[in-house]
Amino acid sequence: MPLHRAASPDEWLEVCYADEPIAVQLDDGDGSGRGYVSSSASMPTTVALMLDAAELEPGNRVLEVGTGTGFNAALIATRVGMDNTTTIEIDDDLAAKARSALVDAGWPLDVVTGDGTKGYPPNAPYDRVLSTAAVHELPYPWIEQTAPGGRVVTPWGSAFHSGALLRLRVNGDGTASGRFNGDTGFMWVRDQRTPHGAVEDRVRPEHDYAETVTDIHPYEPVGDFSASFAIGARVPGMKSTLVYDDDDPGTQRYTVYLMDPGSGSWASWRIQTGPREYAVRQHGPRLLFDELSSAYQWWQDVGEPEHTRFGLTVTPGGQHVWLDDPANVVA
Ligand SMILES: C[S@@+](CC[C@H](N)C(=O)[O-])C[C@H]1O[C@@H](n2cnc3c(N)ncnc32)[C@H](O)[C@@H]1O
Repeated sequence: MPLHRAASPDEWLEVCYADEPIAVQLDDGDGSGRGYVSSSASMPTTVALMLDAAELEPGNRVLEVGTGTGFNAALIATRVGMDNTTTIEIDDDLAAKARSALVDAGWPLDVVTGDGTKGYPPNAPYDRVLSTAAVHELPYPWIEQTAPGGRVVTPWGSAFHSGALLRLRVNGDGTASGRFNGDTGFMWVRDQRTPHGAVEDRVRPEHDYAETVTDIHPYEPVGDFSASFAIGARVPGMKSTLVYDDDDPGTQRYTVYLMDPGSGSWASWRIQTGPREYAVRQHGPRLLFDELSSAYQWWQDVGEPEHTRFGLTVTPGGQHVWLDDPANVVA
């Protein structure tokens, strides 16, 4: 429900000081009414977790990607100094509002309007790049524009899994490497959003499909944080949606849909009470349920590792996910 400071000042302040994320823009501000949150002030606990992971030292030069309200940029500047803080926001309107709010609050920071996935070369090199929007593919300019020994901290996720916090250390040879930690579901940087779309649009009655049964219940592969993190890392471009019968989450009957918007492939996984035998239908060039179950089997075979045992290495040629050791590439 929208809340206006002028109309409800007390409630507005209460929300500002609550340990909750606050949506500050919907639908990139296009007024379409679709209702997708496109900017928010992050939950203060998450802000603290990310600042802690960034290990900011006074005097560090910092690039924040995703200015939003400007709140986190002011916190960064408090630690490293105003002259050392650059923050970049892709949305013109948000950037302008943050710029003026920061001036009003006494923090006249360098708020750049632009695409933060390109970094911001004029103020590079940075000691820290801190992104407050999530990525699937780590933008290489963040590595190029960070000094050797510096850190890049960002939420990282897949189409299947909302994400974990990634902390990379930048090496002097153009690569960076580090581990995942923390549970940080963030909105994606704009050009890495997976397409939205309703199940009815993607799963059409005229589609043919192959039908099998499985005894795998979605409780673990979809519901377990580390299992779904590993599956998302190994199965690219696969989204999942759960649809309850009669829109009633109280019912034990529901269908999990797996969808790849790129190829038009989908799988449905029908869960009901009774014998542990669930119908699976698969349509399209990708057999998404088979991909999911083999990634899940792999995760079980390697001992069901927590997501914190995974890491990522970025090179000019791309990124790869590893388990325990950068040499043990798994995705
Ligand atoms: C979770 S909000 C950031 C919260 C913010 N740090 C604060 O303190 O309020 C994520 C922001 O990233 C912005 N964003 C998305 N893609 C971007 C991009 N490619 N470059 C810069 N900003 C981007 C969004 O417009 C949104 O404002």
